[in-house]
Amino acid sequence: MNNKVLDEEIVEQKKYMQKVKSIIKKGFYYIETMGCLLNENDSEKIEGMLVNMGYEKIDDYSKANVAVLNTCCIRENAENRVFGKLGAMKQYKKDGLIIAICGCMPQEKHIVNKMHESYNFVDIIFGTHTIYRFPELLFNVIDTNKKAENVIDIDGQIVEGLPIKRNDKYKANVTIMNGCNNFCSYCIVPYVRGRERSRNIEDIIAEIKELAINGYKEIILLGQNVNSYGKDLNDANSIFANLLYRINKIEGIEIIKFLSPHPKDFTDDVIHAIKECEKVHKVLHLPLQSGSTNVLKAMNRKYTKENYLNLVNKIRTEIPEVAFTTDIIVGFPGETEEDFQDTLDVISQVKFEQLFMFIYSRRVGTIADKMENQIPEDVKSERFTRLKKLADSIVFETGEKYIGTIQNILVDGISKNNDKMLTGRTNSGRIVNFEGKIDLIGQNVYIKIISNHGWYLKGNIAEN
Ligand code: 5AD
Ligand code: SF4
Repeated sequence: MNNKVLDEEIVEQKKYMQKVKSIIKKGFYYIETMGCLLNENDSEKIEGMLVNMGYEKIDDYSKANVAVLNTCCIRENAENRVFGKLGAMKQYKKDGLIIAICGCMPQEKHIVNKMHESYNFVDIIFGTHTIYRFPELLFNVIDTNKKAENVIDIDGQIVEGLPIKRNDKYKANVTIMNGCNNFCSYCIVPYVRGRERSRNIEDIIAEIKELAINGYKEIILLGQNVNSYGKDLNDANSIFANLLYRINKIEGIEIIKFLSPHPKDFTDDVIHAIKECEKVHKVLHLPLQSGSTNVLKAMNRKYTKENYLNLVNKIRTEIPEVAFTTDIIVGFPGETEEDFQDTLDVISQVKFEQLFMFIYSRRVGTIADKMENQIPEDVKSERFTRLKKLADSIVFETGEKYIGTIQNILVDGISKNNDKMLTGRTNSGRIVNFEGKIDLIGQNVYIKIISNHGWYLKGNIAEN
């Protein structure tokens, strides 16, 4: 769809928002978002539309008029959670609850078939390419009491001009591109999010300038493969490094983060931009997946163990204060004990700040799912335990440097494990728990770190 058609489409959808509003007058919505920050950002747009239609947010779906599940399909357990939730929601259909499923799961044919067969009480199904059509679908359900569905697998542009209800006052997610061209052999994302489509650089800059005017200080640039931003635009100015330089100049913005880059697209211009832009956060997420060159080849990652280590060293030479976080998959088909040792070796050498670790999960439709040398579950989980043990010790080791330092923390809320403590994160993403009054939530405070507990730190509010 070209820009003009899309603009007309948004005007059309805004009319549907008005129609819903005039019918319902007032209502409540519940929304649950699974998966990555891209889904979070899509949910903020869905919430923006719901608020425009006259709905108010509620935390309890049993009291809601509309419940939206924005789903993820990256691993099997994410999908199982959705089916469990639907089962629990079914009983409230009798009170008129409208249930909508969106996000990545509806982009899988076998999932939509399963919905039709076993979960036919779901009212609205839409995918990742058509979130802007939600008002029309909701209107149809309210108006006709029939089900509404819109799932297409044609890559749409990222829609501009949708209302958005941001969940945070200081931090804002900004999607810069959607889709992925990499086809890592284990990953379902290219099948459910389509090919890479980058937003126009001027639209991104305009959105961030407006966020700055509204008091936002931290920007998180989102995409499945952010550092290949712009490759589809064929414009020398619309490249990732340039985007960083331009955002760095926007007054009011203090921190720029991005998720997720791919090691193969970490070109010198991107490294220089990170170095030269003082606002760009110096903790980089660099997904390793595996430390074994053989496994990386089978994963279609397009780098070797040596390439990855050289990249880390190159970035460290350019930017000495840099720290790294990563994603690891254990138990990919064909992974031998020797391959696994290579993963442990890279982790020991790089000494990551944080590691996100996953047991390989078979995804229907991917290349790796068809490989014959699948690893037995007990071997996968035994390796995961060893991986976790090494990660615990590395995270403890990299946590020691915080003791005695003063950290500027944006207070996120009450600690999950101790309701007498508040919690927030350091600039490097490490959790910090400390005692404080509840009204500090949402504010920035200075915390002196007093102890290191590995995955979290403890501190006290600094006197001055
Ligand atoms: N099984 C396990 N982990 C996966 N990831 C992606 N696909 C799979 C899968 N099939 C992990 C990768 C990716 C992160 C977002 O999820 O580590 O970087
Ligand atoms: Fe999946 Fe690989 Fe694309 Fe990341 S880069 S979304 S892991 S295919």
